[in-house]
Amino acid sequence: MGLELGILELSYLIASIAFIIGLKRLSHPEKARSGNILASVGMGLAIICTIVFHDSVGIENKNLWLIIGAIIVGLVAGWYIAIKAEMTDMPQLVSFYNGMGGICAALISLIELPHYMHTNSFTGDMNTGFMLAVLLGLIIGSVSFSGSIVAWGKLDGRIGDIRSQTMSVVNLGILLALLVSIFFIMQMDGVQGFEDISMYIYILFGASIIYGILFVLPIGGADMPVVISLLNSFTGLAAAMGGFLYDNLAMLTGGILVGSAGTILTILMCEAMNRSLLNVIIGAFGGGGSSVKGQDGDKVVKEITLTDAGILLSYSSKVYIVPGYGLAVAQAQQVCKDLTKLLEDKGVEVKFAIHPVAGRMPGHMNVLLAEADVSYDKLVEMEDANPEMASTDVIIVVGANDVVNPAAYDDPGSPIYGMPVIQALDAQNVIVIKRSMSFGYAGIDNDLFYHDKTRMLFGDAKDVLNSLSAEVKMN
Ligand code: TAP
Repeated sequence: MGLELGILELSYLIASIAFIIGLKRLSHPEKARSGNILASVGMGLAIICTIVFHDSVGIENKNLWLIIGAIIVGLVAGWYIAIKAEMTDMPQLVSFYNGMGGICAALISLIELPHYMHTNSFTGDMNTGFMLAVLLGLIIGSVSFSGSIVAWGKLDGRIGDIRSQTMSVVNLGILLALLVSIFFIMQMDGVQGFEDISMYIYILFGASIIYGILFVLPIGGADMPVVISLLNSFTGLAAAMGGFLYDNLAMLTGGILVGSAGTILTILMCEAMNRSLLNVIIGAFGGGGSSVKGQDGDKVVKEITLTDAGILLSYSSKVYIVPGYGLAVAQAQQVCKDLTKLLEDKGVEVKFAIHPVAGRMPGHMNVLLAEADVSYDKLVEMEDANPEMASTDVIIVVGANDVVNPAAYDDPGSPIYGMPVIQALDAQNVIVIKRSMSFGYAGIDNDLFYHDKTRMLFGDAKDVLNSLSAEVKMN
């Protein structure tokens, strides 16, 4: 038995190492795929060994066929959804899967609490650490579940922003009530107390689900990235609580890794968006909104022909490309790289200015451009790119909108005011490639498009970049 127990622990250790190395590899686009595979193998190993060697720790492995059936259903559904999803649907998919992780962690608490009460009902003794893990897993997992489902609906365009002044107050009230109820339940003891807990636990579950919905609903504008990474870290923390309950090292390590990575990402996102985390938690995000501009009929945009754009680019010394969500929609990354190559062959220096929240998920543009083998040293982070704008001849904005909106620094009433953006107007010339005058994710107009320096090239990014490449070839 000792040897088999050793095998189970060893498998968890190997799985944990696989998670850590896998996570480390995810930080570089070239190694990300192998990192993902390594972490999946680690997870597979942990699952198989838990099933095979579980009896060895003295607990009978019941419901084996139910477990195998559930794994098969999950595998088939996950595989089918993943292969059907378009690249542009990835952020929604990630949100949805994050929500599934959250509800699993919450259900573990809902199921384990009655077990615990049953085994301790005669003595009424309460294990404080166990109860705290159960309650936190329940609350955090439920918030993460309902919040992620709302985030999925918003990213998919199914749910709009619903915001009211009273909402922040209600949210804060529910949050405080949840925290107080943890304290309240922890005070209960004795057999009677245990009976009462079963009622409170369902109220807590319901209240947490409602909080998750209300917390994400008002978040709008350009602020979703912060909440998505925050929800991600919640799911990790909730899973780690499950690891405590089951004394399962693989679950604990996996949860802590997701939780801490998500927390670090949340802090980085907050910095990138110039927002405070407290604002996110009480759902008072996106603020203002009063000066959200409509499409203004008086403002005029100036267009540029493909030929003129081709000449302008061919005779430039330094060109910056700002990729945005539209590049992903058009799947124009390869064409974009081809244009870069043509310009470089003519002696033009070409770089990409990467905004931390361009696209719809963290690192979206890095992943997209890595797919087209754009060399990593050409990708310049926003804070390093901005000082270079003054020496840039042409900045080409490809399917980006909010991340180049000057309202972020010159319109205090704008919902995105204060968010750092790529300062395209500092460049000598601006070319914007998009299909129409439609707004970006934040749903606000962009004065960059009407500026004297700016010329619009309307059309699908892939088509326009293809035609532009043909023009550059002719010069
Ligand atoms: P957006 O501001 O959303 O603008 C994208 C633009 O692409 C749109 O104005 C759209 O205009 C254009 N477009 C769409 N399809 C196109 C196509 N086929 N060809 C050419 N253009 C196309 O994108 P962004 O500048 O990347 O900013 C990202 C926004 O999403 C921010 O507000 C950010 O906060 C938010 N957000 C980010 C994340 C993360 S983590 N990155 C997560 C959630 C939300 P047309 O329709 O006129 O073409």
